[in-house]
Amino acid sequence: MLILDKTLAIYYSRTGTTRRIAEQVASNTNADIYEITLAEALPNDMYAVAELATNQYETNHLPALNKLPVIDHYDTILIGGPVWSGKLATPIASLLQSVDFSNKNVAAFCTSTGSYAEYDSSFRQYCQTGNLFPGLYLGNSVNETRINQWVSQI
Ligand SMILES: Cc1cc2nc3c(=O)[nH]c(=O)nc-3n(C[C@H](O)[C@H](O)[C@H](O)COP(=O)(O)O)c2cc1C
Repeated sequence: MLILDKTLAIYYSRTGTTRRIAEQVASNTNADIYEITLAEALPNDMYAVAELATNQYETNHLPALNKLPVIDHYDTILIGGPVWSGKLATPIASLLQSVDFSNKNVAAFCTSTGSYAEYDSSFRQYCQTGNLFPGLYLGNSVNETRINQWVSQI
């Protein structure tokens, strides 16, 4: 990533893990940061969230977001979210469906408890615009070395 690039790190975080990583990513890349939030609160129970997300994917009724980020003035957009049932969390799918990333460099980062099998393919499925770079797939802890290696490829 060119040091003069203007970078925006957009993230969704339900329980704070992705927020911590997004803050580190933003700090290491001199990026601005934007948190996406849901118009309707999620259930507390993770299994209920998993069921809801499966239903949202199956019916293509992705959740409404409160406010979308304005990305006009950025060259590179880093998009972070948690893995839900192997895929991207549905708020990230909503973001990717709603924002036009044409002419932007785009790369995903995600947090998980260790398995992120379909994250990359589901991100690619929903991110139809933009110049997509390889993603960063993490567990739940900040790993500065991996963050720096990842951004150096963008
Ligand atoms: C509905 C749901 C499904 C999840 N599915 C997976 C999964 O398939 N693989 C995995 O490693 N972690 C899974 N997790 C764990 C989260 O990805 C992990 O805790 C993540 O770091 C949470 O990020 P957050 O605190 O930013 O919301 C799941 C969590 C939830 C709530």
